[in-house]
Amino acid sequence: MKSVRCDRTPAWGELKTCFEVSGRHFDLREAFSRDPRRFEALSQEAPHVFADLSKNLIDANSQSLLLALARQCGLEAQRDAMFAGERINRTENRAVMHFLLRNPPSAQYVPAQVAINKIADAQAEVEATLNAMLDYAEQVRADAGITDIVNIGIGGSDLGPQMAVLALGEFATAGKRIHFVSNIDGDELAGVLRLLKPESTLFLVASKTFTTTETMTNAHSAKAWFEAQGGHDIARHFAALTTNVAAANDFGITTTFGFWDWVGGRYSLWSAIGLPIAIAIGAAGFRDFLAGAHAMDEHFRTAELEYNLPVRLGLLDVWYRNFHGFSSRSIAPYSSALRRWPAYLQQLEMESNGKRVDQDGQPLPFDTSPVLWGEPGTNGQHAYFQMLHQGTSVVPVEFVAIKQAAHAPDDLPGHHGKLLANVLAQAQALMHGKPDADGHRDFPGNRPSTFLLLERLTPASLGALIALQEHRVFVSGAIWGINSFDQWGVELGKVLAKDIEPRLQSGDISGLDGSTAGLLQRLR
Ligand code: F6P
Repeated sequence: MKSVRCDRTPAWGELKTCFEVSGRHFDLREAFSRDPRRFEALSQEAPHVFADLSKNLIDANSQSLLLALARQCGLEAQRDAMFAGERINRTENRAVMHFLLRNPPSAQYVPAQVAINKIADAQAEVEATLNAMLDYAEQVRADAGITDIVNIGIGGSDLGPQMAVLALGEFATAGKRIHFVSNIDGDELAGVLRLLKPESTLFLVASKTFTTTETMTNAHSAKAWFEAQGGHDIARHFAALTTNVAAANDFGITTTFGFWDWVGGRYSLWSAIGLPIAIAIGAAGFRDFLAGAHAMDEHFRTAELEYNLPVRLGLLDVWYRNFHGFSSRSIAPYSSALRRWPAYLQQLEMESNGKRVDQDGQPLPFDTSPVLWGEPGTNGQHAYFQMLHQGTSVVPVEFVAIKQAAHAPDDLPGHHGKLLANVLAQAQALMHGKPDADGHRDFPGNRPSTFLLLERLTPASLGALIALQEHRVFVSGAIWGINSFDQWGVELGKVLAKDIEPRLQSGDISGLDGSTAGLLQRLR
């Protein structure tokens, strides 16, 4: 696979010049007056998602240079290497094949490196495991004795399933409450246990590794609670979702659904980790969810870079981060159902691309992942949008709007129209601004935003929206030349916590810095 780090390409230098000549002072309002077809030229239809990129600080010149950058970095070869099943996660010597989890058996595309990575076997295993997992989900749905499902997991074993279960509430079966416990803070588990009876509860212990401290601590406590309450049928009331089936068995769980090391934690909601989603929306709904994502995979894999939405978004991210110097992106889903969307994207992008060395471990002389943050609209408008409109830093905003509400318009007249009016108005206000001689009332405008539009929030459209984000993160990571699929940065804190925990009991502060020692003594 031939790839070149972005700062070593001719296009990088040309983009620098382009930014100095026209990018730095680019004015969106003038761009729209100059080009009445700007909206058509800079919007893009992709499976289930329409994207308006026209309110971004880009023009034909910067677009074509960014595309040249992508080509010079070998983006297509890097993308093809992932889809071929090559071991592109080099620090862990693993393939990256979450796309295979949504590749239907009937798919026309067969990954190239079948012989090398046994992808054909993997596809068969995926299908068999999916069928078993979906059969189980249907059994649970039909089991009137189970009213509460508690997913115990953290990071990718929590954020994706939780976000999707909330997002697809409209499609969820009525008879089941699904709870998510992630934090090692016992107050969270205690708060959920208070609501439960052991005989009507199913615990799903979701952990790729089955070693994560938070999840193991919560799982042990849940099991102890279950047994103390007189529960005994662990096989019926506990299931494990993991690549480490042996550890789950040692824990005493015999109902297990496996997955594979080539599924990264933050890419795992398509695997057995998606069981809470399947319980909520059923087997057919889960297959629709996979199909929506697969449609986006095919778009990413086959569309020309010019018309490839994940590519266009990923390149925009590079343009903003490395040339404009924007250090964050605000995520604004105008949908209460998407309230965990910002948190989900934080892990997806910041754990993937928050890296400071290239694939060879060499320090990078440019910035990588921006900070992602946000809340659903319209709530954010009444909190931090002040800063977005009038603060000193420019923060690109990524809106998500949904054309049709889940509720019937006659049930709650007016709500959805007001919601849509607000999302349009915010994008408009950010761009146009409003000059005023009184500085307090002056809106500078020219603040960029992207507008993603779904017809409806369905399993298929959510699947496509998530896959779009996965691939967009791949694109910026590939341009930056980093490994988007490891997460060594989370390890150090885990190790130090293991050292500190016994010291909280013993009071031993030897070898600690003054601040940690002082705080530890106060906390004892
Ligand atoms: O700490 C980071 C991390 O490894 C994430 O990448 C992962 O999603 C999360 O922890 C949970 O890991 P596991 O599913 O193995 O419990």
